[in-house]
Amino acid sequence: MALSLVHSTLFSKTSQLLLHTKIGFSHFSSSIPFSTSALPSNPKTWRRPVISVLELGGVKIARDDVVRDDPTNNVPDTIFSKLGLQLHRRDQHPLGILKNTIYDYFDTNYSNKFDKFDELCPIVSVKQNFDDVLVPADHVSRSYNDTYYVDSQTVLRCHTSAHQAELLRKGHTHFLVTGDVYRRDSIDSTHYPVFHQMEGFRVFSPDEWEASGMDGTSFAAEDLKKCLEGLATHLFGAVEMRWVDTYFPFTNPSFELEIYFKEKWLEVLGCGVTEQEILKRNGKLNNVAWAFGLGLERLAMVLFDIPDIRLFWSDDERFTSQFSKGQLGTKFKPFSRYPPCYKDMSFWISESFTENNLCEVVRGIAGDLVEEVSLIDNFTNKKGMTSHCYRISYRSMERSLTDEEINDLQMSVREQHAANSSLRRLYYSMRSKLLLQESTPLTLDAYGYSAAIITCRCKITKLSDDGPSSSDSCIFV
Ligand code: DAH
Repeated sequence: MALSLVHSTLFSKTSQLLLHTKIGFSHFSSSIPFSTSALPSNPKTWRRPVISVLELGGVKIARDDVVRDDPTNNVPDTIFSKLGLQLHRRDQHPLGILKNTIYDYFDTNYSNKFDKFDELCPIVSVKQNFDDVLVPADHVSRSYNDTYYVDSQTVLRCHTSAHQAELLRKGHTHFLVTGDVYRRDSIDSTHYPVFHQMEGFRVFSPDEWEASGMDGTSFAAEDLKKCLEGLATHLFGAVEMRWVDTYFPFTNPSFELEIYFKEKWLEVLGCGVTEQEILKRNGKLNNVAWAFGLGLERLAMVLFDIPDIRLFWSDDERFTSQFSKGQLGTKFKPFSRYPPCYKDMSFWISESFTENNLCEVVRGIAGDLVEEVSLIDNFTNKKGMTSHCYRISYRSMERSLTDEEINDLQMSVREQHAANSSLRRLYYSMRSKLLLQESTPLTLDAYGYSAAIITCRCKITKLSDDGPSSSDSCIFV
C-alpha cells in the first residue's frame, strides 16, 4: 500500500468503496450546506475582512457571485479568499517551481507540442466537473459534503479533469492544465480544502498506432507509462517505480504510479487510457488518448521537505525567501515551531453528522490556526446513541497563540457546531412531519440565531427529470 499523502485521487477505487460504505444515506441528508455565512456570528472571531472582488484571467468575480446566503451554496468566505491567489503561477513558490519543472520535461521531450493552461477559471458547471468526465450520478464526490457548490449547477472544480472536454472540443490534442482545486475535507498536515493539480492529455490518430501493429488502447497505455516514468525520473532521479491497476470513471484501463522514496511507496499520480465515450462526445471519434492527473502539493511536500500543507499559503518571509525560481528540491529549513494547543470537544452525533461539516466550521472560525482535527474517542451507549470526542489542535506557524485567543476560538466552534446540529435535528423532524421521501431534497438555511431560538427558512426542492425545481420557502421558528 502506498503512503497516503495529500489528497489521494478522489475518483479511484478506494474512494468508490468509501462511497458504498457512506452511501447508506442520500446525498442531501448528509450534506445540508449550513454555510458559516448562514449563521449570524460572534463577529470578533467568525468573520474576517474579505475582499469583495477579485480578478481571474482578466474576469472580475464578486464575492456575492460565489458566497451566497442561499441553501444551495456552501462556499465560505475563507474559500472565496483563496480564489485569486494562484500559487502555481508564482515562479518562486514551490508549486510554481514544480509546475515549471514539469513543463520543462514536456517541452524538451515533445518539442513544445503540449499547450499549457494555468489560468482557466476554477468556477465550473456540474456538467464540466462531473458529467463530461463520466462521474456516475451517485458518486460520493458530487455530494454537498465533498464539493463546494456555488449553486445547484455550479461548483468550484474539484479536479483539473473538469477541463478535458472543453479543450478537446476546441481542438487541442496535447495539453497540460494546472490549477487550484477545491474539496471539503478533513484537517491535518496533508489536507487543505484548496490544493493544486496538473492534468495531462494526449490524443493519438490511427496512423500513430497502426504502424506499431498494436491496438490503439495498448499503444496509448504503453506510451503513457513511458512518458510518466520519464517524468518521475526527471523529478525524483533514479527511483524504483511500480504501476498499480485502479479505477477512474474517465479512463480504462486506469493506473496509479508509485515510487519508492525515503523507504516508502509513494503514490505519485493517477492516469489511464481515456474512455472512448469522452472522445466520441467531443469530436474525436477515431482517436485514442491518454490522460493523467497529479497533485502538486503531494509532490512538492516530498521534493522540498515541506512538513505542513498550510505553509504553501504562508506569506511569512522565513518561508517564501527559501525558494528560488528554477530550483527544484531546495530543502525547506523549518523555522522555530510554536507550541500547539489542544482542545477537546465531545458531543452526541446524529445520523446527519459528518466530519467534513465539523471541519468546515472549525476552518471558518480558526482559519489556518487549526492544524488538525482528529477523532480521539468514539462511544456507543446501550440505547445506540454514539458520542464522538474530537481533539482540535491549534498552532500558528508565525507566532505564539494566547490562551484567551484559543479559548475564544474554541467557544465559537462549540457554539456554531451546536447551532448547526440543532438545525439538522430540525431538518430531520421537518422531513418526517412533511412526510417527505428521503429522495426529496429539503434544504434548510438558518437566518436567525439567538440563545436557544433558531429561526429557519426552509425550501423544498423537487427533483424531476427536468432537474430541480424549488417550491415556496416557509419559515419555522
Ligand atoms: N481527476 C483525478 C482526481 O482528482 C486524477 C486523475 C486520474 C486525472 C486519472 C486523470 C486521470 O486525467 O486519467 O482524483
